[in-house]
Amino acid sequence: MSLAPQDFLPAIAPWVGTLDDVWPGAAVKPYFAHWEVAHLLSMIMLGGASILLNLRLIGFGLSEQSPSEVRRDVLPWLNVGVIGILITGLLIGASNPDRLYTSEAFTAKMLGLAAALILTYGVSLPLARADGRAGAAVRVTALIGFVFWALSLYVFGVSKLVNPGLWHVVTAAALIVLFVTRGLTRIVYAAGMAALIAIQFVTTHFVIKPDDFTRLDPANKVFFAIFAAWILGAAAVQLISAGRGQHGGAFTKATAYAAILVWVTTAAAGRWIAFA
Ligand code: HEM
Repeated sequence: MSLAPQDFLPAIAPWVGTLDDVWPGAAVKPYFAHWEVAHLLSMIMLGGASILLNLRLIGFGLSEQSPSEVRRDVLPWLNVGVIGILITGLLIGASNPDRLYTSEAFTAKMLGLAAALILTYGVSLPLARADGRAGAAVRVTALIGFVFWALSLYVFGVSKLVNPGLWHVVTAAALIVLFVTRGLTRIVYAAGMAALIAIQFVTTHFVIKPDDFTRLDPANKVFFAIFAAWILGAAAVQLISAGRGQHGGAFTKATAYAAILVWVTTAAAGRWIAFA
C-alpha cells in the first residue's frame, strides 16, 4: 500500500498537474535552487530557536535565564523561521508539484509539520511561558501532537526507499541525550553507544557482505530498534534522575525532547523526498 498524497487525494490530480504552469510555480521554477536555500536557512533559524527553547525546558543550556526569558528571546527567530519555511516550501512545492504528489516522504513530512506546529506552539511555548508548569490544556494538546508525530513516524517507517531517513531522527535523539545526560549515566550511555556502533559496523560489513541486501535490511532494522531502545532508556534514566526540578517535571522534559525531534523528523522526511 502506498501512502503518497496521490493515493488518498486522487481528485486533485488535474489541479496539481497545472501548478508549475501558472504563477507562482512557473516563476519560481527557474530559481528553484535559490528558493530552496531560503527554505533551508529558514529551517536553521527555526531549528536553532527550537533547540535553545526546548533544551532549556529539559534543564540544559542557557541556565542563567528562566525558560520564560528564553522563550521571549527566541520567539521572533522561531516565528520568522516558521513563516519563512512555510512560504518557501509552498513556492518550491508549486514549482515541482508532481514530485510531492507522488511522494510518501511528503506525506510523512506534512504529518510531521502538523505535529511540530502543535508541539511547538501548543505545548513548548506555553510551557516555557509558565516556566515549566503544565496545565490540563497543554497536556491534551501534547497528546494530539504525539498522535500526529506517531502517524508521521509510521508513514516514514513503512515507506520503501524512504525509511532509512529515520536514522537521522535516531542520530539527533542520540546526540541530545549525549549532551543532556551527566556523570555516570553519560559515561555508560556513551560506552554503550560506541559498542553498538562497532557491533553494527562489523556485522554489516564483515559478518554480512555489504551487497547482501536481503540479509542487511532486516539486520539494520534490528539495530535500529536496539539503538532506539538504548537512547530511550538513557533519556528515561535522565528524566527520572533529574526529578521534579524548579522548572517542571518529567512531562515538561519529555515533551521538550519530542518538540525538537519532531522538527528533525519533518526535515528528514523533506530531505528524503529526493530519494524516493
Ligand atoms: C508547507 C510546508 C512545506 C512544503 C510545501 C515543503 C516543500 C519542499 C519541497 C518541494 C522540497 C524539495 C523536495 C525535492 O525536490 O527534493 C523540500 C525540501 C526540503 N524541505 Fe521542505 N517543505 C515544507 C516545510 C518544511 C519544513 C517545516 C522543514 C523542516 C523542518 C522542511 C525541510 C526540508 C528539507 C531539509 C528539504 C531538503 C532540501 C535538500 O534537498 O537538501 N520543509 N521541501
